[in-house]
Amino acid sequence: MNPLHKELNNFYQKMNLGSLEKMVDQDQWRLKYHVMPPIGWLNDPNGVMQHDGIYHLYYQYSPYDAEGGLKYWGHKTSTDLVTFEDHGIALYPDQPYDLHGVYSGTAYVEDGQIHYFYTGNVKHLGDHDYISSGREQNTVHAVSHDGGFTIQKVGCVIHADDYPKEFSQHIRDPKVFKHSERYYMLLGARDLESQGQVIVYQSDNLVDWRYQGVFAGPDQKLGYMWECPDYFSLDGEDVLIFSPQGVEPEGYLYQNVYQAGYMLGKLDPSLMQFSSQEKFVELDRGFDFYAPQTFLDEQGRRILWGWMGLPDEDGAITNPTVEQGWQHAMTLPRELSIEQGRLKQRPLPEYKKLRGQHFEDTFELTDHYQNEQLFGEVYELIVEVERVESELVLHLRQDTVLRYDHDNKRLHLELGASGFGRDQRTVELDGLTQLHIFSDRSSLEIFVNDGDYVLTTRMYPEQNHDLVAFEGQAKLTINKWALD
Ligand code: FRU
Repeated sequence: MNPLHKELNNFYQKMNLGSLEKMVDQDQWRLKYHVMPPIGWLNDPNGVMQHDGIYHLYYQYSPYDAEGGLKYWGHKTSTDLVTFEDHGIALYPDQPYDLHGVYSGTAYVEDGQIHYFYTGNVKHLGDHDYISSGREQNTVHAVSHDGGFTIQKVGCVIHADDYPKEFSQHIRDPKVFKHSERYYMLLGARDLESQGQVIVYQSDNLVDWRYQGVFAGPDQKLGYMWECPDYFSLDGEDVLIFSPQGVEPEGYLYQNVYQAGYMLGKLDPSLMQFSSQEKFVELDRGFDFYAPQTFLDEQGRRILWGWMGLPDEDGAITNPTVEQGWQHAMTLPRELSIEQGRLKQRPLPEYKKLRGQHFEDTFELTDHYQNEQLFGEVYELIVEVERVESELVLHLRQDTVLRYDHDNKRLHLELGASGFGRDQRTVELDGLTQLHIFSDRSSLEIFVNDGDYVLTTRMYPEQNHDLVAFEGQAKLTINKWALD
């Protein structure tokens, strides 16, 4: 181990990490089947990939500050995407080019060699505006020679001084891909007029990178900064994913502080430009989803992982887990496909492995339906809706309500006191045919109409609130499995 890392670890041991870990472990809101930080804070998924059968998930990690301090890369692996092994810290902020944070980045694998590209964040003292932002965001190259378990930094490949002059110092979150024997790197950017864009660099050897131009944007309606770009082709369509900041709410859309979504379009490979006539579509309509990243697994599936949380720069929401020494988690990974021009997101079949006690019923709902066998905190519930008249209401846990208003074709997710300050999100539907819900101790992921929409939220119910009950007029078939 690098002597500096050793010293840091000894220092933190002296701060009595053992008791912090114990406190975190005992928290009633720790999740049962989601990736969480062992202690402290977690944000974006980074460097997601499958290599030699093993899935790797690195992530933005602040072990010693549950409210997010200095960023490291944490590391977990899995052979089935259901259970994960923790490998501690994979990257430390310990070089002049990444001293104040090993920020988000990507893994690129070729001929068995794993390359990583990430943003090295360096803060400067003194006053600054958003153009200089008082920081450098360098693009850094690293490699692993042992299948992703240890990572060596190679060095800074694009220094912050060398970014194009029409951009501010907000340039980050590299994503690398290959096209016609050439490598391309996308970076999220904010220009000098405060517009979000994605810029692109090209390289023949992954070490020397030349600026090529703007890959996508700007778009007047889509804010001042685009974080975490991702590009891929899927089912004959080109897809750009990014996380814009500064988008104004519009009806039920763009309700969270920042958004994460996609555009379907076309890549012009001669110019390396992505163009789209389509609307930007949010990937998730719940309260907690941001900075997703995708990868192609060895079965050829395009899998998306998101941060089940959001930046909270105004301190508007205090998650009660902060007091317990930790905050945030990853969503379940989802499989993407494009069907009839729309992107579908479905839970992975791997999660069937967790299915335990099963309960099934088909019934005509005339007013109220409640059955103790349906109750639970950690479960998967599939509701097939054969018919609904006027309203279908599903009560979950302490005070969470999913309310489908059939006359206006709207699905509302309402959080009560267990939402800690969050209230309602709404999705307009063409009709309701299915709800597929993954409930964990403090989270819900609600897949609607076979992956047409997803609503992800954290909520923090008091202990033993395990209600599941229906109200309304409908014909339903329900399947519920406790997840162990
Ligand atoms: C997105 C983000 C990225 C950045 C990272 C820092 O949540 O702000 O743009 O690289 O988080 O943790």
